[in-house]
Amino acid sequence: MSPNIIRPDTDPVGRRDRPLTVTVDGTPIPGVHGQTLATVLLADGRSQWRTAPTGGQRGVFCGIGVCFDCVATVNGVPDVRLCRRQARDGDTVTTQTRLAGDAR
Ligand code: FES
Repeated sequence: MSPNIIRPDTDPVGRRDRPLTVTVDGTPIPGVHGQTLATVLLADGRSQWRTAPTGGQRGVFCGIGVCFDCVATVNGVPDVRLCRRQARDGDTVTTQTRLAGDAR
């Protein structure tokens, strides 16, 4: 993913995109309709939102729905691939942790 993602509230060309807000671990962050949840998080400066069983931090790897590195809980549904899920206003994202020994 490009590190040059422009947040909608700071876009110098003034796009007319429809803004939305998603909540990530209780923090509201802005996005625009048409973005995936992964791009909303990336535009907010987040690159890691899951802890793998090994303790490694994960975020977007393939960006096309193949690797499952980007999963998180969305509106109470676990293991949603954020690179494939279009953001909707009011979505609630909860980061996931599956450290070794975790019962889930
Ligand atoms: S980044 Fe690979 S499935 Fe989402």
